[in-house]
Amino acid sequence: MTRFADCVAVVTGAGSGIGKAAAARLAVEGAKVILVGRTTSKLEAAAREINATQKIPAAEVFTADVTDEEDLVELRQYIEQQYGDLHILINNAGGSSNTKILEMDGKEWDRIQEVNLKSVFLTAKVLGGLMVNGAERSRSQDNRSIVNVASLSGHQAGAAIPHYSAAKAGVINLTRSLALELAPYGIRVNSVSPGFIETPLTEKGLQNDKFVKAIERNTALQRVGKAEEIANIITFVASSEASYMTGSDVLADGGWLIK
Ligand SMILES: NC(=O)c1ccc[n+]([C@@H]2O[C@H](COP(=O)([O-])OP(=O)(O)OC[C@H]3O[C@@H](n4cnc5c(N)ncnc54)[C@H](OP(=O)(O)O)[C@@H]3O)[C@@H](O)[C@H]2O)c1
Repeated sequence: MTRFADCVAVVTGAGSGIGKAAAARLAVEGAKVILVGRTTSKLEAAAREINATQKIPAAEVFTADVTDEEDLVELRQYIEQQYGDLHILINNAGGSSNTKILEMDGKEWDRIQEVNLKSVFLTAKVLGGLMVNGAERSRSQDNRSIVNVASLSGHQAGAAIPHYSAAKAGVINLTRSLALELAPYGIRVNSVSPGFIETPLTEKGLQNDKFVKAIERNTALQRVGKAEEIANIITFVASSEASYMTGSDVLADGGWLIK
């Protein structure tokens, strides 16, 4: 399949886990992919891995913090100079800590809102502008799409992750506002909400046998998911195959919420 031929794509948090898997899938299907994150060495390793499967290198690295508007403006300038357009934006960077509300300080609350929610606002504002310019210039039926990675926690709050749950619920609703604002330009905006997925984010928890057993017991499919399974959904939603879908959230939780 080459659903992303001639597309330029940005994936944030692409140095590991779901972002890395989504970037690989986009590259295999023809996109030029810019891997964004804070740790250059992780991004370079991911790009090397992706490019090893391609005749023409498809992945490149741009080190940036998605909570820093100046970094994102520099990324926009780089994309404008190199490619002059942006078609696909995967807002995947995120993370959490385990803290209860009564024990949390305001700084930790803010940090989790910034990386998970404010980052979606900032990238949409800075890079979304570039996508709008491209849409106005080309006046074509180009596929342009933003996919925000939310979470099962945005649907069902977790006791030890109140800040993360609130931020991801915010991502699901911000997705709808963005979808309304960008629809006149033909830019679709959707979110994907994964359940428990094996990545560096969950690595520590998944070393606990009791935790894994509880996930298996409470998930209809009786297992933890893989990053590639979420990448498949992200790339479907990003592709023109989902051309009539905007403002939606796709829950991929292995059947956790139906149990
Ligand atoms: N794994 C799950 O079970 C699960 C479930 C639901 C939702 N999610 C969501 O899926 C997304 C990907 O997570 P993952 O599970 O793949 O975990 P991960 O491997 O830890 O990926 C998160 C990536 O985000 C990057 N990142 C963090 N803060 C950043 C910042 N300020 N600026 C730029 N990049 C930043 C990290 O790289 P650097 O630290 O090098 O910047 C890292 O590569 C996240 O939004 C997460 O909330 C995951």
